[in-house]
Amino acid sequence: MAVVFILLCYFQISLALHYSDKFTEELVLKPLVQDQIYAHFQFTTIWDVDARSRDLFQSHLFSRALSEVIVRHNVQELHISLTAGLWKYETWGYPILDSAPGAEVWVWFKEDTKDIDTNWKQLTNSLSGLLCASLNQIDNTNSINPDISFAPTGIVSNKVNSSFVRYSTLPREIVCTENLTPWKKLLPCDSKLGLATLLNAGPIHNTRYHSLSIHLRPICRNAECDLSSIELTQSVDLVYDFTILGTRNWSLRKLFGQGIMNSCPLAESSTIYVEVTNNDTNIFHLSPTPDEYLLSTRGGFSGQFAKYIIKERAMTISASYSDNQMYTVNIPPPLHANQYKIGYGQQKGGLVTKIYNNHWAAIDVVVLQNLPWYIRYIYTH
Ligand SMILES: *[C@@H]1O[C@H](CO)[C@@H](O)[C@H](O)[C@H]1NC(C)=O
Ligand SMILES: *[C@@H]1O[C@H](CO)[C@@H](O)[C@H](O)[C@H]1NC(C)=O
Ligand SMILES: *[C@@H]1O[C@H](CO)[C@@H](O)[C@H](O)[C@H]1NC(C)=O
Repeated sequence: MAVVFILLCYFQISLALHYSDKFTEELVLKPLVQDQIYAHFQFTTIWDVDARSRDLFQSHLFSRALSEVIVRHNVQELHISLTAGLWKYETWGYPILDSAPGAEVWVWFKEDTKDIDTNWKQLTNSLSGLLCASLNQIDNTNSINPDISFAPTGIVSNKVNSSFVRYSTLPREIVCTENLTPWKKLLPCDSKLGLATLLNAGPIHNTRYHSLSIHLRPICRNAECDLSSIELTQSVDLVYDFTILGTRNWSLRKLFGQGIMNSCPLAESSTIYVEVTNNDTNIFHLSPTPDEYLLSTRGGFSGQFAKYIIKERAMTISASYSDNQMYTVNIPPPLHANQYKIGYGQQKGGLVTKIYNNHWAAIDVVVLQNLPWYIRYIYTH
């Protein structure tokens, strides 16, 4: 009897260990051309649970409210963003994470999902409540299931079948700082500790661009990929204007209203990166001295970053420029697009989409356009 009991205990412990999860947080600060500074926050929770599991409720880091919604509606991948302002691709280059103006949601359902349209409607309703956004306005009249765009970003078991994806945008959704509070509730440390202490409604209100997002996908747990995990990435992208700040000399306190109070004890790592690539032409000094410098090469571009590790004490970072003038040449990104309305009425009204290729060679592009039903369309080249 005793032996059985011990074995059972052992089994329970190994099960508990099996459900492990980890949390990391990062902030990247990057000066942009034309006197802007870009801040990208990324909070990542990785949960070692089989993505096919229907019992996702045993985690101490993962938001229970969110995991319930995912299980109930058989979600494989979830992508939501709430964005105010326009990202200026031609001068700022690419953001770390793209998102459409207003609200954007796209979801891949699991392949055994019975009624996708009903699940989609109910899911967007639940998300609407969870994030205090009008996602409940999403229905089959403003949703599409694109064949090529919005492919899954995580692991897929079978051949991708676009009847399981739904995509919708609400470009008129007014995104405001009220969405920040429910978004922060999904973080393991809430907003009291770690990098989230920097996310305060007041200073964010003063930005030229702000975007909140949630991305959930299944990922490989090991190199063989015989086990999967679920990754939840919550991001905030902000662009500050130095003319609003009054100076190019920035600090965490000037940007966010306060410094960091303390690290989040649940975070496995908590880091801040400041891009210093342009320091040769725009000399600036950082205080305190960074923990180390890193060289990052990605997609043929290399950048230099100063790295800070957040420790268990209050900290702020400040940068001081020797010159108020910016001497950076604007190199437009390889590919960017814009779209605008012309004229009005049935005869003269129209929508123009321009795609610019600044790359030295031809690039294949896929254009996805979700036209409202009242627009008649004629193609011209
Ligand atoms: C995609 O899935 C739907 C629904 O299960 C099915 O009817 C359809 O045949 C599938 N298409 C392909 C190309 O497998
Ligand atoms: C930028 O370059 C100057 C001069 O080489 C150097 O003193 C300074 O520490 C650099 N700043 C950063 C943030 O690395
Ligand atoms: C930034 O601070 C430095 C040192 O405090 C000062 O010399 C410089 O004029 C300031 N630069 C700007 C652009 O305000």
